[in-house]
Amino acid sequence: MKTFLMTVLLMIAPAIQAAVHKTHWGMVDGKSVDLYTISSPVLSISVTNFGAHIVSIEAPDKNGVRADVVLGFKDLNGYQKDTKTYMGSVVGRYGNRIAKGTFAIDGNVYHVPANDHGQALHGGTIGFDRKVWSATVIPSGVELTLISPDGDMSFPGTLTAHVRYTLESSSLRIEYTATTDKPTVVNLTNHSYFNLAGKNSGTVLDQQLMLNADRYTPIDAVLIPTGELALVGGTPFDFRQSHPIGERIQARDEQLKLAGGYDHNFVLNGEGLRLAAKAFDPRSGRSLTVTTTEPGVQFYSGNFLDGSVLDGDGRPYEEYAGFCLETQHFPDSPNEAKFPTTILRPEQKLHSITIFAFGVQK
Ligand code: GAL
Repeated sequence: MKTFLMTVLLMIAPAIQAAVHKTHWGMVDGKSVDLYTISSPVLSISVTNFGAHIVSIEAPDKNGVRADVVLGFKDLNGYQKDTKTYMGSVVGRYGNRIAKGTFAIDGNVYHVPANDHGQALHGGTIGFDRKVWSATVIPSGVELTLISPDGDMSFPGTLTAHVRYTLESSSLRIEYTATTDKPTVVNLTNHSYFNLAGKNSGTVLDQQLMLNADRYTPIDAVLIPTGELALVGGTPFDFRQSHPIGERIQARDEQLKLAGGYDHNFVLNGEGLRLAAKAFDPRSGRSLTVTTTEPGVQFYSGNFLDGSVLDGDGRPYEEYAGFCLETQHFPDSPNEAKFPTTILRPEQKLHSITIFAFGVQK
């Protein structure tokens, strides 16, 4: 009988809509900023239309005890003050780096403000993470929309971007769409820092990671890809089998030294919506499975967290306090003809899906 009931429950579970609850969070530039909490029986996620940030993800451990597994802040002020970590935001118009902020499309040269050691990072000085998006509640989630004008941070074309966050049982689905009225470049991703033991529970060095990637893109001293697609075999970048994040992070390896840990784009095997990564915390039993349609994932081990950014309760976020799995097109693609293109033309529509599925393993 019990098994029968369980089977029925599992069959109807996808049909059960997650509840969406909206609360007012504050005002920015005369626009209302709200917090949307999306809850299923298993997971509770909150997102805000300021920077399209994921603010919290409450997930159960192996004993059913919930914890917030993403780093973040308690209030809007925390997100406004923090301009370094991009904690939980959607980064754009071009997530990750563009060398010297300079690129060309059809012979026209563009210069995005360089905000990171002479390079453009996450869309320049005022990226999508700083913008108030408009929001619409949709079944089991929220759709956020941003119209980035022609010339925004020097990018050409008016870009209309939508991000849909929806919750199905224990999975958060993020769907990005975008259109433009002039040829432009786009790379959108979510910049959540995960700590499967719960935020502020120490470092993630003991948490295990698997990446579905035979190759990665090595970087130079300013973290711009050299253009090479290097094999991971025999290096600390081989995560094809699961390894604790900290196991090889101090290895004598030029690439790890350049970034102070992992901060590299991995070239995902396969195409279409497929497995990108699996993470597991042996202490809590929580697991995270990432699937995506994107060609790459930036695995960043939180090397630049240095205790200077505090959470809402005044506790510092220290080095390696969280890891990011930023599903994306490769960094500096506008300047690397052999990388998958990030050019979007008026007759095209960008469509990208990433799913973060949470679970437990005993
Ligand atoms: C990551 C990037 C890091 C660092 C971080 C923000 O996406 O790979 O190098 O800039 O964002 O602090």
